[in-house]
Amino acid sequence: MEYKICVIGSGYVGLTMAACFAIRGMKVTCVDVDKERIEKIKRGEPPIHEPGLKEIVAEVTSDGMLKATEDYAEGMKGAEFSFICVGTPSKPDGSIDLSHVISAAEAVGKNLHLASKNHLVVVKSTVVPGTTSKIVAPILESSSGMKIGQDFSLIFNPEFLREGSAVEDTFHPDRIIIGEYDEGSGKKLLDLYKEFYNNLLPPYIITNTVNAELIKYANNAFLATKISFINEIANICQRIPGADVEIVAKGIGLDKRIGPLFLKAGLGYAGPCLPKDLSALIAYAQSLGYGPLLLRAVQHTNENQPYRAVLLAKNLLNTLKGKRVALLGLVFKPNTDDIRNAISLKLINMLLKEGAQVAVFDPKGLENAKKLLGNAVVYANSAVECIKDADCCIVVTEWDEFRKLRPEDFVKSMRNPIIIDGRRVYDPKEFSGKLTYVAIGYCPS
Ligand code: UDX
Repeated sequence: MEYKICVIGSGYVGLTMAACFAIRGMKVTCVDVDKERIEKIKRGEPPIHEPGLKEIVAEVTSDGMLKATEDYAEGMKGAEFSFICVGTPSKPDGSIDLSHVISAAEAVGKNLHLASKNHLVVVKSTVVPGTTSKIVAPILESSSGMKIGQDFSLIFNPEFLREGSAVEDTFHPDRIIIGEYDEGSGKKLLDLYKEFYNNLLPPYIITNTVNAELIKYANNAFLATKISFINEIANICQRIPGADVEIVAKGIGLDKRIGPLFLKAGLGYAGPCLPKDLSALIAYAQSLGYGPLLLRAVQHTNENQPYRAVLLAKNLLNTLKGKRVALLGLVFKPNTDDIRNAISLKLINMLLKEGAQVAVFDPKGLENAKKLLGNAVVYANSAVECIKDADCCIVVTEWDEFRKLRPEDFVKSMRNPIIIDGRRVYDPKEFSGKLTYVAIGYCPS
């Protein structure tokens, strides 16, 4: 069956999902208020860097399966499904800003009369429990003049894709969570997914909207907890001669109850999702009269973690004033061009305050960094150019190309060959003998 789908919001979640639906033979229209984004998609160019997405978007826009528009009416016309994938940023107090979700719901409601009968509205944006039923549902009904469960249906269906592997995660998710507002509507969405996954459906849960909403937050909060936990162990390792958090993580990761993933110690978790979702969950719990001590500690540990790298640099150089510090990596994780909330930004801030001169390089993040940082830092065109004449180098993002550098490359280029390995990309044994090598969670014997 050839479904017609309208996807509202063309960020990582919306655009990746839209392109993947389209390549599986569904007719998809992306709707976004950002004209520049829409123009790029129309030309077949994704406005974000995501492995595999460029090829898919080029194909589905050229064969007409994926269209893009600023006009809701055009997107909703004849559509059987609409997916709301707009951003849910943080307010200054950490709580969730629902303004984009609200305006998207209003616009969907107003144009619902153009959609196919028994249309299914699917909220994918991450929202705190109660949002779908208490905010989205009444807006849809009042702006459309129609009734959920009678004229159309409403679902909350969270997305778990990771940046850098968004396409892969869309085709191979661990599970599907469907929170139905009106009973029985979950099956309709399941039918779409059955078609999409060619009957090789991943495990799924159909539940109510609040459980589905909370699953998304609990999921990200647990991931953040694992990272802050291993970073805490790393900070303890740092003080024990002979200790190495990489070995400790490997050891505990073999316990099936713990598992090996998300135990990579470093400078902290970052990006547009984990920090924001944890803040929103904390603010939400507080609004219910519950103070989540563990979640606050997870956040606190993460906020302090980037400072570890600055402390290590200060200890080695006595002062950072007038010193040239090279940062390898700007984006919040490899294989993206996303610097939102990145650790590099926090580090740059701290280093500049200490009076250091900062040189930076990133294989994909330079363009976005320039927009944010202007001439506060020196931009290099390669890793080798970045470390040239530096007094200290901090590895901030674990790009594969940084792994290729050998100790000799640093010794040859740097004024003072000191590496602070914030992402554990180098082998301490190989590097320690040849230059000053310090790393998060590693203490030489
Ligand atoms: C996250 C969730 O993983 C995803 O399910 C959700 O849909 C969106 O938020 P994303 O932010 O793209 O995805 O990246 P993720 O791979 O989770 O990494 C987040 C941060 O944690 C990065 O800064 C990464 O460097 C850091 N991290 C991750 C660690 O420091 N150690 C780890 O072991 C894993």
